[in-house]
Amino acid sequence: DTLTGPNAYARASETAAYVRSKLPEALQKPKVAIVCGSGLGGLVDTIEAEPKVELAYSTIPNFPQSTVQGHAGNFVFGLIGPQKIPVALLVGRAHFYEGHTMDLVTFATRVCKLLGIGTMIVTNAAGGLNENYEVGDIVCLNDHLNLAGLVGIHPLRGPNIDEFGVRFPPLSDAYDLDMRRRTHKAWKKLGLDQQKRRLHEGVYAFVGGPSYETRAECRMLRILGADVVGMSTVPEIIVARHAGIRVLAFSLVTNKAVLDTGLRGNDDTIQAMSKTELDEHLNKGKANHQEVLEAGREAAKDMQGLVKQILSDLHED
Ligand code: ADE
Repeated sequence: DTLTGPNAYARASETAAYVRSKLPEALQKPKVAIVCGSGLGGLVDTIEAEPKVELAYSTIPNFPQSTVQGHAGNFVFGLIGPQKIPVALLVGRAHFYEGHTMDLVTFATRVCKLLGIGTMIVTNAAGGLNENYEVGDIVCLNDHLNLAGLVGIHPLRGPNIDEFGVRFPPLSDAYDLDMRRRTHKAWKKLGLDQQKRRLHEGVYAFVGGPSYETRAECRMLRILGADVVGMSTVPEIIVARHAGIRVLAFSLVTNKAVLDTGLRGNDDTIQAMSKTELDEHLNKGKANHQEVLEAGREAAKDMQGLVKQILSDLHED
């Protein structure tokens, strides 16, 4: 009774069949799946009221149950934008830090494949490591560092499931160039205030979490070439690419990772500081979940606008 190995295909098929049985004709063939990260589920409110099907993760056979506050779990099917494009939204995701296995973290991705989805747009909230990034900026991912994967915690570990893809999938082209080009075009078209929010391209470092990075870890990740750091996305992207799904991914910078070394207890200037001054220093840039959710709320609208513009342009071509 496991989702691992050969069973994964049977289980995903069972789940896909269940989901399909709940969908009316007009929603049977979703083209694009959109994974909504922390605070980015607002896209749901922008799809057509009818036809629309919302399936709570708790009611879907084999689906992982998400346990984090602010990450509701709903698989939503509907039509988006003036062209009424059929989409599937994953509002809330299973994270590795919750204790789920990599099979469960990536299960929904495989169900998407079996539902016939060809393109997946993955969003997340992430910490900014690149000094040029501000809170609220959007990063279109062009590569990743799978730190967990490099040491064997990898969603494709185990017998290969040939029905989905090959044993040794390449990832050098994981972040689809054409989709990234479309993204930058769409961003220009939207003409958002560049003072308020910028669009970058960057590298995402996947860490297990749930604790945020230490200062030394932030510096290490930066040296390794990461621009943002987060606790999701990479497993889903690997499994999507394994199955031949085209991928586009965005990080919303919800906090700036602290790169400076912080206070050293043997420094005379620290000995001379008042308690208030010390507290102020110590709290500077400290990541917290509340801040992450708030930055998400503010920037979410622009991110939604961007995703909708990309979808709309995609549909036109
Ligand atoms: N998600 C949001 N901010 C993060 C950070 N600093 N590190 C990891 N995941 C995050």
